Amino acid sequence: MAGLAVNVDHVATLREARKVNYPEPAAAAIAAETAGADGIVVHLRGDRRHIQERDVRIIKSIIKSKLILEMASTSEMLGIALDVKPDTVTLVPETREEVSTEGGLDLVTHEAGVKEMVNALQNAGIKVSIFIDPDLDQIKIAHKIDADMIEIHTGSFCDAVTEREKEREFSKIVDAAKIAHKLKLNVNAGHGICYNTIKAFKGLDEIDEFSIGHSIVARSVLTGMEQAVRDMLSLVKAL
Ligand code: PXP
Repeated sequence: MAGLAVNVDHVATLREARKVNYPEPAAAAIAAETAGADGIVVHLRGDRRHIQERDVRIIKSIIKSKLILEMASTSEMLGIALDVKPDTVTLVPETREEVSTEGGLDLVTHEAGVKEMVNALQNAGIKVSIFIDPDLDQIKIAHKIDADMIEIHTGSFCDAVTEREKEREFSKIVDAAKIAHKLKLNVNAGHGICYNTIKAFKGLDEIDEFSIGHSIVARSVLTGMEQAVRDMLSLVKAL
């Protein structure tokens, strides 16, 4: 049965919109855990647009499940990760202009640098996941550089408009999940998944964990965090 890791970045987005000290992402993390989340995800961006370093440290110190830190492959982030010691680091690409992460990390271009990062993190006892597009070449390199897991970028599928486009994008995810699983990589999936698109993953048992943020935080504004997480968990458990 797949797990659910809840990303609380957008609780911080709401706080940073007014530069005040509420709402508190750590409180959202506790509520998500109380509702049954298998892990908490935060993305510490270079531009600090939502999550701040203090959020990462506080969440790490109070949660009982696991902390997954999404970060770019930079020396600044490596220093923070080695200090905070999250359970897992997910390496993601990052550009200043993007609204959110726009695609997977291109391992064809960045293999050497990412490999160094993977080694440094693993030597400190941190598991490493790499966020990649559902593409065979990317999976092969993730395997070659000894990543512990991959996270398949599901954004193109979730954003697809026509049925044809949806089918095409989803079949890439299915192929990628099956190949990565065969290579004994743990397989996670995330980006853009909502209470509707999650249903498409029924029967795709190769996926170990979903990483979902925006749709859950958006629902939590109306229902509260615990209920929003419970609603998503019941869909994930029904897959
Ligand atoms: N996985 C990765 C690697 C991401 O960068 C993000 C967005 O921060 C997510 C999952 C969660 O995406 P969403 O907020 O659209 O659920």
